Amino acid sequence: MALLAKIFALLFLLLAVYCAVDPFKHSSIAEFPNFVAHKVEMYPWSELPTERDSKNLLQKSEIKFLNQVQGPESIAFDPLGRGPYTGLADGRIVFWNSQSWTDFAYTSPNRSELCNPQASALAYLKNEHICGRPLGLRFDKKTGDMYICDAYLGLMKVGPEGGLATSLVTEAEGVPLKFTNDLDIDDEGNIYFTDSSITYQRRNFIQLVFSGDNSGRLLKYNPNTKETTVLVRGLQFPNGVSMSKDKSFFIFCEGSLGRLRRYWLKGEKAGESEVFAILPGFPDNVRTNEKGEFWVAVHCRRSIYSYVCGLYPGLRKFLLKFPITAKIQFLLNIGGRLHGVLVKYSPEGKLLQILEDSEGKVVKAASEVEERDGKLWIGSVLMPFVAVYQLE
Ligand SMILES: *[C@@H]1O[C@H](CO)[C@@H](O)[C@H](O)[C@H]1NC(C)=O
Repeated sequence: MALLAKIFALLFLLLAVYCAVDPFKHSSIAEFPNFVAHKVEMYPWSELPTERDSKNLLQKSEIKFLNQVQGPESIAFDPLGRGPYTGLADGRIVFWNSQSWTDFAYTSPNRSELCNPQASALAYLKNEHICGRPLGLRFDKKTGDMYICDAYLGLMKVGPEGGLATSLVTEAEGVPLKFTNDLDIDDEGNIYFTDSSITYQRRNFIQLVFSGDNSGRLLKYNPNTKETTVLVRGLQFPNGVSMSKDKSFFIFCEGSLGRLRRYWLKGEKAGESEVFAILPGFPDNVRTNEKGEFWVAVHCRRSIYSYVCGLYPGLRKFLLKFPITAKIQFLLNIGGRLHGVLVKYSPEGKLLQILEDSEGKVVKAASEVEERDGKLWIGSVLMPFVAVYQLE
């Protein structure tokens, strides 16, 4: 027995040394010499919502436009109700004219054959800085202008006729935007938007998730003064942004912590923010429906694995040094397989509805959900289609 114990101890030591040194650069963070694992202070399990959609209702979604749209993140309709419009993995923003998809706008002036069709949404990652990668899309209802968060090119705007978008913001406080993600607009035309990290670009979103990076920012752009201000800093993967129906506050998603935060624009608490809801998992985008309720696309449910890894950054870094690809590490993190989760909250932050495809049969992943005329339009950076769910 003693010998066996010694052998195990030795093997463990060798493994620890191997992982610390990673001599063959096989680990998922080998290319990130400055990788830092930050603590992610998640809520205790007892505070997580326990609701589940045991019927897997999302599996009833219709798959639309299969292989016509790759990685459609944001779904937007214009002020005349036409659309949807969506931003794709190849950098185009396209428009559904109710018969076919047509090109509407671009964010990069440098598009080339590098942006031609690829086999999967992930295959575009390496050229995203050349082709552009439009994420959040919103129309200004008064002017018909479309505002765009391009992950690489910053906050942009394009007129109702489309074409090449104009750059509005590429830095704040002298620090370049590195991963511009989502936005919304208030009645005065101010834009509230997120820069998910000043360290990691979108193509390294997996490492951003692994690190618990806390350099994300919530920003405001004033179109009259053309000034950009930082409203909240030190955020861990801030993502979706959506105004409340009465425009007294907006909600933004904190991706790594798995919660929604409310930022007050009006009233006594204007300029302050607070926790709005604790989510069952890690959110991507949030969108407000006509009733003022918030639909949240949850990237995946929180697993014991991601919870423990969040709380113990040293352990996380150790595990990340194993000779395991980033893809597999990522799958471990999200509970083994891609699957879609949508959650709806009342304007007061009460959980109202949850829709899931826990097996990932139809909706493998959800980045954004837009409710319109009794239907949910579901986009995802990983899917080659838009899923449409008919509400009761
Ligand atoms: C487009 O390419 C030019 C020339 O290489 C470069 O200077 C410019 O920064 C690029 N623009 C963008 C938005 O990437």
